[in-house]
Amino acid sequence: MPVENSRIPGFYKKTIDERLSLVRDLVGLTDEEVETLKAWGNLEPKIADAMIENVIGSMSYPFAVATNFRINGKDYLVPMVIEESSVVAAASNAARVMRRDGGIKATTTGPVMISQIQLVNIKAPYYAKMKIIEHKQEILDLANKQDPVLVKLGGGAKDLEVRVIDSPQGPMVVTHLIVDVRDAMGANAVNTMAEKVAPLIEKITGGKVYLRILTNLAEKRLARAWVKVYKEDIGGEEVVDGIVAASNFAWADPYRAATHNKGIMNGIIAVALATGQDHRALEAGAHAYAARNGRYMPLSLWEKDEDGNLVGSLELPIAVGLVGGAVKVHPVARIAIKILGVQTAQELAEVMAAVGLAQNFAALRALATEGIQKGHMKLHAKNIAIMAGAPPELADKIADIMVAEGKVRFDRAKELLEEISGKQ
Ligand code: MEV
Repeated sequence: MPVENSRIPGFYKKTIDERLSLVRDLVGLTDEEVETLKAWGNLEPKIADAMIENVIGSMSYPFAVATNFRINGKDYLVPMVIEESSVVAAASNAARVMRRDGGIKATTTGPVMISQIQLVNIKAPYYAKMKIIEHKQEILDLANKQDPVLVKLGGGAKDLEVRVIDSPQGPMVVTHLIVDVRDAMGANAVNTMAEKVAPLIEKITGGKVYLRILTNLAEKRLARAWVKVYKEDIGGEEVVDGIVAASNFAWADPYRAATHNKGIMNGIIAVALATGQDHRALEAGAHAYAARNGRYMPLSLWEKDEDGNLVGSLELPIAVGLVGGAVKVHPVARIAIKILGVQTAQELAEVMAAVGLAQNFAALRALATEGIQKGHMKLHAKNIAIMAGAPPELADKIADIMVAEGKVRFDRAKELLEEISGKQ
């Protein structure tokens, strides 16, 4: 039932139990629903309560492991957290046909983030730009004073770029602080630096700084992956042609490119969730990068090589970290990193790019051949069977019957469950 009044002063100051009781009373949660919210699973209440505000419970997602991945000659078990069926199976199947020649290749450009400092009220913006460049070393030194640990590790503010942009209120002078954040995702480090150098930029130019924040269009933190898939491993040249045509469709049409890229992000975000990354940052970066030239484009491309094999490549910004944030705080994220066995944030980004490419291949292969509904329907049917109360050992059987009949419905699952369990 809808709540009558959502204004609850001091809600954030209450304990988890107090908040939960309040919500229970306001919306009429049953005892069972309250118990479900309180089933903390692998996230301790005190950790959850420290991670975000107003916590009243926790929510579990399936944690799976994709198999068969070989990336840069090294094998990986890839942890994935996702609510959508078929994604993990598709990634594992794709990775199986990508194991030759050392598997999927991947690289990154370096863990370099950009922080933006927005300057307004500038009479002579191009002159202001030069003044900022004139004081570059002073600005970088001040930025680096904020994070001696990062500097000691070989990171820190390395450069700056200044842009004059047009806006509805006239020109703005935007300084980009370019920071090597090493193994961090880097948001905290670069935002702190931007806030600290802002008064200096105001002093140098006489302008007014408003925003001081990283850009998620992390174009200096690119991950690239590429692979050759042998035609005989995927059903011949006709399948190769179908995948190339699917890829070209995305290249030519933003409506298709959006879905094409969604398929790539299915893989990347599942790994991001498992490893406690800021997945909104990854989505924002990916889609902004896809549109960086003024038209939304696919992040990957598939071609046919001279021997008729399929070759694919992918490029996008991947800003992830191994220090700081949920990756260190959430116990499952720490386990995910152990399962994956990555040593650096860059290696994690390489794995994610490789998974994105494999996921994309799996989707295009299915779409260009039998379509995705067949595989999806089976898993969907199994979910429906489980929802109808089927024990796991019967769920597959019920799902198979429903798919064969073309009747994937809750009522049919219930009927079949009664019939089959009656017979046993
Ligand atoms: C579904 O989650 C993802 C796909 O739509 C991706 C694609 O169309 O390429 C299958």
